[in-house]
Amino acid sequence: MTGALGSEAVAYAELAGRIRVLIVDGRIPVGTRLPSERDLAAHAGRSRTTVVAAYQALRDSGHLISRQGSGSRATLPHLADVSKRPEHAVNFAGSIPPPVDGLRELIAEVTAELPDITTFPGFDLLGNDGLREAIADRYTTRGLPTSPDQIIVTTGGQPAIALTAQALVRRSDIALVESPTYPHAYEAFQRAGARMVATPVTTSGWDIPHLLALIQQTRPVVAYLIADFHNPTGASMAPEDRARLLRAARAAGTTLVIDEATVDLNIDRPWDDGPFAQHASRDSSPDGSGVITLGSLSKSIWSGLRIGWIRADEAVIRRLVQARPSGDLGTPPIEQLIAERVVRQMDDLIVGRRRFLRQHRAALSHALARHLPQWEAPWPDGGLSMWVQLDHPGSTALTSICRARGMSLVPGPAFSIDGSFERFLRIPFTSPIADLDVGVRMLADAWAQLASRPPSTVHDRRPASAL
Ligand SMILES: Cc1ncc(COP(=O)(O)O)c(C=O)c1O
Repeated sequence: MTGALGSEAVAYAELAGRIRVLIVDGRIPVGTRLPSERDLAAHAGRSRTTVVAAYQALRDSGHLISRQGSGSRATLPHLADVSKRPEHAVNFAGSIPPPVDGLRELIAEVTAELPDITTFPGFDLLGNDGLREAIADRYTTRGLPTSPDQIIVTTGGQPAIALTAQALVRRSDIALVESPTYPHAYEAFQRAGARMVATPVTTSGWDIPHLLALIQQTRPVVAYLIADFHNPTGASMAPEDRARLLRAARAAGTTLVIDEATVDLNIDRPWDDGPFAQHASRDSSPDGSGVITLGSLSKSIWSGLRIGWIRADEAVIRRLVQARPSGDLGTPPIEQLIAERVVRQMDDLIVGRRRFLRQHRAALSHALARHLPQWEAPWPDGGLSMWVQLDHPGSTALTSICRARGMSLVPGPAFSIDGSFERFLRIPFTSPIADLDVGVRMLADAWAQLASRPPSTVHDRRPASAL
């Protein structure tokens, strides 16, 4: 009935997911008595602990009722609530804005030039000259003199993080990250074999004394930070703190890996400090060495345009080029042709993105104030989401209930390196405005349902895709 299962670590979530689908599809009719935990463990070839946890997850999401003496029976989460389901799935998991206004027209223009791409080299580990020049020029215009030789183009920000981790980190090296942080970055450093240390960030920003002391004490090989409109908190690091951080990193021999995937998403932050690495160039090292900057068009323009890049000194770029072939053999030329045009017109295109974010932030804030006034939802001055504080812990259980009702959500602990943040939820404001209201009403409903249940100790640890 349940098929072959994957790795032990996610086995219970997979098992629960499969049973949930069977119940939702009606292949296990409501009221059916499920096998005992012991019988199912034997049948599925899994430990009893896995099955116990799977059944608990099903109880949490409202798909199973267990009673002493009569076993566990399939049900649906609050059958009366089914009518409240939205007509389509609400996505509060990814912060994925729609393509920016003007992109369609720009792609249409570039289409006429497409046949020319056959003159480009086929395998292109570094990136095409025109795009690298456009990216370098933009850094230069923003206050950080940059040559195209300091740029390598990747197929997005995530591959840029993964390549940096792979090239710079050796097994057991220390990597510093923020907590909370963008989870797939954390995973990339972990996969490279790093031992992780973390420094806290809140919606009010960094604990700078903690960060500086941690660098001094642990001397990490790399420190990965999102200094502008941090994902998920939305915080930005003050310019004077950037300079202090750089000095501490230089003294400790730490390379700062600054993720600027969200740098252009300024809604109404009253200052713009330019690229982080300019503090390095001001402070004795003209090429900004000691800082590796990562960029992406995913959030500012469109996540379907899989273009990111790394800016570093030339020696580091050479290392990255050498390390790249084990992961991929280059960036497709069609995307690069479009991206070159996009980067040259960035200042104009981004105006529409900021307008979109301003309107959607207001809509989410309004919906939260109306339906969940007990939650604290600080207003970020940029970025794509709110890092909301719940009135009591329960982010993971809330996520389970919402998923069962067709709404995807990532619980707060997915952004931590140690399972904390049960009191937090990242809510992106990138969905259509109507969905923001529907989604918040669903959250409010599920939160009320949760309050009427005994607290659960089981956490749904399905891998999150928290983009
Ligand atoms: C901070 C940060 N860096 C990088 C990425 C990945 O970007 P890309 O879609 O370009 O791979 C994301 C995606 O959510 C992000 O939030």
